[in-house]
Amino acid sequence: MNMSVNIAGVELKNPITVASGTFGSGMEYSEFVDLNRLGAVTTKGVAIIPWPGNPTPRIAETYGGMMNAIGLQNPGIDVFVNRDIPFLKKYDTKIIVNVCGKSEDDYVECVRRLADVDVDLLEINVSCPNVKEGGIAFGQDPKALYSITEKVKAVAKQPVIMKLSPNVTDITEMAKAAEAAGSDAVSLINTLTGMKIDVNRRTFAVANKTAGVSGPAIHPIAVRMVYQVANAVNIPIIGMGGVATTEDALEMIMAGASAVAVGTANFNNPYVTVEIIDGIKEYMEKNGIEDINELIGCVK
Ligand SMILES: Cc1cc2nc3c(=O)[nH]c(=O)nc-3n(C[C@H](O)[C@H](O)[C@H](O)COP(=O)(O)O)c2cc1C
Repeated sequence: MNMSVNIAGVELKNPITVASGTFGSGMEYSEFVDLNRLGAVTTKGVAIIPWPGNPTPRIAETYGGMMNAIGLQNPGIDVFVNRDIPFLKKYDTKIIVNVCGKSEDDYVECVRRLADVDVDLLEINVSCPNVKEGGIAFGQDPKALYSITEKVKAVAKQPVIMKLSPNVTDITEMAKAAEAAGSDAVSLINTLTGMKIDVNRRTFAVANKTAGVSGPAIHPIAVRMVYQVANAVNIPIIGMGGVATTEDALEMIMAGASAVAVGTANFNNPYVTVEIIDGIKEYMEKNGIEDINELIGCVK
């Protein structure tokens, strides 16, 4: 039976990875999860310089999920490369480095810094506000997305995955812009912008006022967007958004995702990724599926 999948020339031993920002670089989780079992580890967003992130409170619970406005807190690329990469290199899993920035130059410098680092794929988080353009996220404007994709591709040595924002009218337009600018793959979805009010304090539950909604509540939206994007572009897709069970992951694959990232569900159950990998294997055995690739995009 074959469970391996291919993302832009990189072979993952199975289609399951983790969603950026929900798993650190796997250090804490390695007490619970054998990282060798994962198709890939996707790291928390890293930027060219360290950022402290947003004021607290930065998370809140909501029906069927959570909200966060961490604000891209990160130790900066130098600490990350010297501390986190050597840790991950001890494991037999692929490494996907998630990159964030506040300007095109930030992204380009960070990707340039990673060019000679031994990692497999770069995932570019374009849901960050573009400070030079009034704060609209790069991933909310097809022209800005095209431009940043092109600039990142010009310096990247690893294949590039542009991570799409769902906070748009038509996500296929964004996926097409990323593909046209040379992106090797796309991942989706990032969190959906929401708001929660703490009625007892009579203020926002999250200090940033708005926060990204994740978890099972957003899963059907994510499946719909993966399906739409799969029918709009020819590059591989990593699907994510509320995946918490084997069935959820299979939905993503059947909608057109070549790999699936598990995010918020790790907070409820640190073993969930391995349980899903075992669950997919069981599903394949039960249904006589020889190769996982037969399932990718099988629902038309
Ligand atoms: C606490 C938290 C931190 C996150 N940090 C990042 C990040 O640094 N970069 C990024 O691209 N996405 C980040 N995300 C978004 C997730 O990677 C994922 O796209 C989203 O949460 C949907 O998947 P889920 O419902 O399985 O969590 C974060 C999500 C959460 C909940």
